[in-house]
Amino acid sequence: MIKTVATTAYDDQKPGTSGLRKKVPHFQRPNYVQNFIQSIFDSLEGFEGETLVIGGDGRYFNREVIQIALRMAAAAGFGKAMVGRGGILSTPAASNIIRKYGAFGGIILSASHNPGGPNEDFGIKYNAGNGGPAPEKLTDQIFARTKEITEYRILDAPDLDLDTEGSFDLGGMTVEVIDPVADYAELMESLFDFPALKAMFANGFTMSMDSMSAVTGPYAKEILENRLGAAPGTVKNATPLPDFGGHHPDPNLVHAKELHDLMMSAEAPDFGAASDGDGDRNLIIGKGIFISPSDSLAMLAANAHLAPGYAAGLAGIARSMPTSGAADRVAEKFGIGLYETPTGWKFFGNLLDAGMATICGEESAGTGSNHVREKDGLWAVLLWLNILAVRGESAKAIAEAHWKEFGRNYYARHDYEGIDSEAANGLMDALRAKLADLPGTEIAGLRVAAADDFAYHDPVDGSVSSKQGIRVMFEGGSRVVFRLSGTGTSGATLRVYIERYEDDPAKLGEETQAALSDLIAAAEEVADISTRTGRSEPDVIT
Ligand code: G6P
Ligand code: ZN
Repeated sequence: MIKTVATTAYDDQKPGTSGLRKKVPHFQRPNYVQNFIQSIFDSLEGFEGETLVIGGDGRYFNREVIQIALRMAAAAGFGKAMVGRGGILSTPAASNIIRKYGAFGGIILSASHNPGGPNEDFGIKYNAGNGGPAPEKLTDQIFARTKEITEYRILDAPDLDLDTEGSFDLGGMTVEVIDPVADYAELMESLFDFPALKAMFANGFTMSMDSMSAVTGPYAKEILENRLGAAPGTVKNATPLPDFGGHHPDPNLVHAKELHDLMMSAEAPDFGAASDGDGDRNLIIGKGIFISPSDSLAMLAANAHLAPGYAAGLAGIARSMPTSGAADRVAEKFGIGLYETPTGWKFFGNLLDAGMATICGEESAGTGSNHVREKDGLWAVLLWLNILAVRGESAKAIAEAHWKEFGRNYYARHDYEGIDSEAANGLMDALRAKLADLPGTEIAGLRVAAADDFAYHDPVDGSVSSKQGIRVMFEGGSRVVFRLSGTGTSGATLRVYIERYEDDPAKLGEETQAALSDLIAAAEEVADISTRTGRSEPDVIT
């Protein structure tokens, strides 16, 4: 029943920041999916008879790829596959299932916050037995394999019914179709004070959760509405759709504008939140206040001990390099470690496994903890809710008190999307070439204190990741960081991260772009952004 099929290697299957991402038609090229999945299996050892978790965010092409992955897993010799009903598993839920059931690993199908549909994005990534994204060593191996693959193996069998829970046989491998929500909801219940949250909702607390027609709909409905008693309709856009209703399931101020406008209006509920395509990102907006992801990480870290799951305190905090230094001040106060990693959740895995960090976060709207090995959108929402319930204050009051205590890191990210790849690389190369000459010079009136190309030395396994973003640090602690996105599917995206620290109590309430205007000018001047990209303004400011 197992067929061996001859195939031709592709040269463009290099996994990016978070797995292989391409447009759907690209994935539909002959054997494109099969080559990549076989290359994953060929790069792994010792999985005979073991369990593989498979699930995705429900986007267009999800079901087709799950059927292929199942037949190939059976042919490869896995003993069991666990699949979410309907092919659905949010990324954090998949991470939890891998860990909880001791699976060998998992295949997650998602292009995260990128749009879905027949001409939009799709993605495949492999997560290891710790529940986290494959480390670079493994993704390098997978990429090497994709370039030399000549055949793949697949079971000759009809499609399985993915919509009925239960156990099925697929050529000797057991396929268990499971409830995608139950294990995750149970995990959340073990971390947070559900009775206190229930009481808060019963006392009239209101919120709006935008699931953006993506995977968290069923999770949020079960947890917020069914278990915690939030009013029906609290979760908006709660049905996962293959094309996310034509929207861009990216919870930022551009794509979740409706929520933002609501939260700034007179009709605002007490709290607003959103999550992305595959449920690992979050957006937090209090009544009348947007909490930036970098600030959210710092505020969650400062208050996490108020939730039962973190009552013992934190072992350490980790953040990606471009994320603001707000969390650093919390770590300093608590006397715990602060780890600065390259962009990409996979870099947190070692720190979490080694017990060095408890909470991690990224400026790209990701926050999470050692409860799984992915960032977790709903987890962040529930931790915020738990903190609100214990402190009995609004998100705005909590944020303002935080800034007063720790100072405020004004922060913005400017994205130049879909620019010419050569122009983008040229900009980065030119910056690299002058790094050594920058210290001591003045740019737009600001004196450069230091400049480098960030390299990470993993304190756990000793591996080194270089060229992870260019940092220009100014006197007084401000900085601009330049990086090319590793998740785009067309052209290049230049990200410019701008940050300034302020601890003058009289200057904590400024408008962000205004507070950063001199640094924005410095970024333009040092990198020649408009000349090199042909753009006079960023496409997205978050
Ligand atoms: C994905 C990863 C994140 C990472 C983000 C950065 O969402 O899971 O860990 O921060 O991509 O994307 P970028 O486009 O900046 O490479
Ligand atoms: Zn995501």
